[in-house]
Amino acid sequence: MSNLFDISGKTALVTGGSRGIGLMIASGFIEAGAKVAISSRKADVCDAVAAELGPNCVSFPADLSTEAECLRLAREVGKWCDGSLNILVNNAGATWGAPFDDFDDAAWDKVLDINVKGVFQLTRFLHAELIAGASAPDPARVINIGSVDGIHVPTLETYSYSASKAAVHQLTRVLAKRLASEHITVNAIAPGPFESKMMAATLENFGDSIKASVPLHRIGEPSDMAGTAIFLSSKAGAYITGAVIPVDGGLLL
Ligand SMILES: NC(=O)c1ccc[n+]([C@@H]2O[C@H](COP(=O)([O-])OP(=O)(O)OC[C@H]3O[C@@H](n4cnc5c(N)ncnc54)[C@H](OP(=O)(O)O)[C@@H]3O)[C@@H](O)[C@H]2O)c1
Repeated sequence: MSNLFDISGKTALVTGGSRGIGLMIASGFIEAGAKVAISSRKADVCDAVAAELGPNCVSFPADLSTEAECLRLAREVGKWCDGSLNILVNNAGATWGAPFDDFDDAAWDKVLDINVKGVFQLTRFLHAELIAGASAPDPARVINIGSVDGIHVPTLETYSYSASKAAVHQLTRVLAKRLASEHITVNAIAPGPFESKMMAATLENFGDSIKASVPLHRIGEPSDMAGTAIFLSSKAGAYITGAVIPVDGGLLL
C-alpha cells in the first residue's frame, strides 16, 4: 500500500507546463520524483521555469496549435525519454470570450486548434513512445485537461471554449477505448476555478461570487490539481480509463 501513489522515475510530458494548471501538475510530478518535460510557446519562460523546477525537468518550447509543431515536439520528447513515455498530460489550452453576435471564425480556429486538434495530434505522434512506456500492470497514462465548462453551461460567453472542452471529454472516451488494448489509459480532469493567467480577469471581477457558488467555498489549490494527476498516474489509478473527473469543489452540483 505504501507504493500506491508512487510515480518516482516515471517519464512525463506536461504541455502548457510553464504556468497555471500545467505548472501545478509539473511541480507535483517533480516533487513526487518523476522526470518531467514541459512545453509552451514562450521559450524563455518555459526554459526559466524548467530550470527553477530543477535537474529532473527539461523544457521543449513548441506551438501545439499546428500539426507540424506537435510532430516536432513528439520527436524531441521521444529522444529525451529514450522512446519510452509513461505519462502525457495534454493541458495547454486557450479561451476566447466575446458576445454572441461578434463571435467570428478566429474565435473558433484559435480555440479548437490548440484545445482539441493539438490534444489529438500530440497523442497520435507519441503513440509509439506511450506503447513503449506501458505494461498491463502499469499502463501508460494520457491525462487530458477538460473543464467543468464542457459539462455545464458556463456563465460567460465562451462558445468555442465550452464546445472544445466537451469535445476533449468525448475524445478522451474515444481514445480510452481505442488505446486500452495497448495498455494506455486515457482520462480527463475537468477543473473548476483555479488561479492562472487564463482565469486572472474572471477571478478579479467575479472571484467572490465564484467562491460563493462553489460548495466548498474556495478556489482550487495547486495540491488539488497535482494530487488528482498523481493519482491518475500511479498504481492507484491504473484501472481507471475513459473517466472525466471534476476537480471543482462541488461546483457542478
Ligand atoms: N484555470 C482554470 O480555472 C481552468 C478551469 C478549467 C479548465 N482549465 C484548463 O486548464 C488548462 C490550463 O489552463 P490555465 O488556466 O493554466 O491557463 P494559462 O495560465 O493561460 O496556461 C496555459 C498554458 O498553455 C500554454 N499554451 C497556450 N497556448 C499554447 C499553444 N498554442 N501551444 C503550446 N502551449 C500553449 C501557455 O504558455 P504560452 O502562452 O507560453 O504558450 C501556458 O503554459 C487549459 O486547458 C484550460 O482550458 C483551466
